[in-house]
Amino acid sequence: MIDLHSHILSALDDGASDVATSVEMARIAVADGITHMACTPHIFPGKYENSATTIMPALHSLQAMLDAQSIPLTLYCGADVHIAPDLVERLKSGEVPTLNRTRYFLLEPPHEILPPRLEDFASRLLEAGFVPVITHPERLSWAGRHFDVIQRLSDLGCPLQLTADSLTGAFGSAARQLCERILKEGRASFFASDAHGVSWRKPGLSGAYAMIAEQFGQEEADRMFRRRPAAILSNAEPAAVLPSSRETVGAAAGQGFTRRLIDRIFRNG
Ligand SMILES: [Fe+2]
Repeated sequence: MIDLHSHILSALDDGASDVATSVEMARIAVADGITHMACTPHIFPGKYENSATTIMPALHSLQAMLDAQSIPLTLYCGADVHIAPDLVERLKSGEVPTLNRTRYFLLEPPHEILPPRLEDFASRLLEAGFVPVITHPERLSWAGRHFDVIQRLSDLGCPLQLTADSLTGAFGSAARQLCERILKEGRASFFASDAHGVSWRKPGLSGAYAMIAEQFGQEEADRMFRRRPAAILSNAEPAAVLPSSRETVGAAAGQGFTRRLIDRIFRNG
C-alpha cells in the first residue's frame, strides 16, 4: 500500500520527535503492508516554518538510514500545507514541495474555523496548475455543519483524502460518520495514515483497507490504497485520481461545470 500523508520526519513538526522514532515508524509501516510513503511535515506559517530546504535533507537522511537497515520503505517528498496568501507563489518556486514534485499537494484546511471563500482559494490553485488534495475533511470540526463546502471542493476536482483511523473509529463517532458519508457519496479519493508517532496515530492502513474491501470490494480498496496514490506520485491526470463515480454523481446533479473546469485546466497535463 501507499501512504501519502505522514509526519515521519523527525523534529520538523509535531510528528516523530527523534530519528529513532522515525525508524520505528517505518518498521511499523512496513509490517502493516506499506511500501511507499510520502513525508509530509506541516508547513504552517508562524508555527512550523518548513520548506523544501528543511524537508529534503531530512528525507534523504532517513531514506539512507532505512536502506542501511534494510527496511523496505521508499520515501517521497511532500508537505501538509496550511492555507497562506502566497501559497501559489511558494508552490511555483518549489519552496513548498508538492507530492513527489507533481501537480498534487496536501492542503490542510483549518480545523476549527471555516475560512471564507475556501472554494475560491482552491479554484485559484487549480487555475495555477496545482491540485489541492483536501486532507481529512472528516476530522474538520466545521465539516458536519458546512458539508456543502466539502461537496463543492470535491465537485471542483479537489481529491479528498480520508484518514484510515477515522474509518476504524479512533477519532470518534463524528469523524467516522462523516467518513462514511463521504464514502457513500462516492467522493473519497484515497486513504492515508497521517501518522505522527509510534503509539496513538501510528502508521497503518490495513485495518481501513479490510473495511473498504468488505464494504466496497477488493477492486475499490486497491484503488483507494494503491492505484490512486500511485497515480498521484506519477503525476497522472486528475481523472486517474478522482473517484470515477463523481462523474456520474456530478452529471446527475447538473454539476458538469466543475468537471469541465478541471478538464480544461489539465487537458494537456
Ligand atoms: Fe497531517
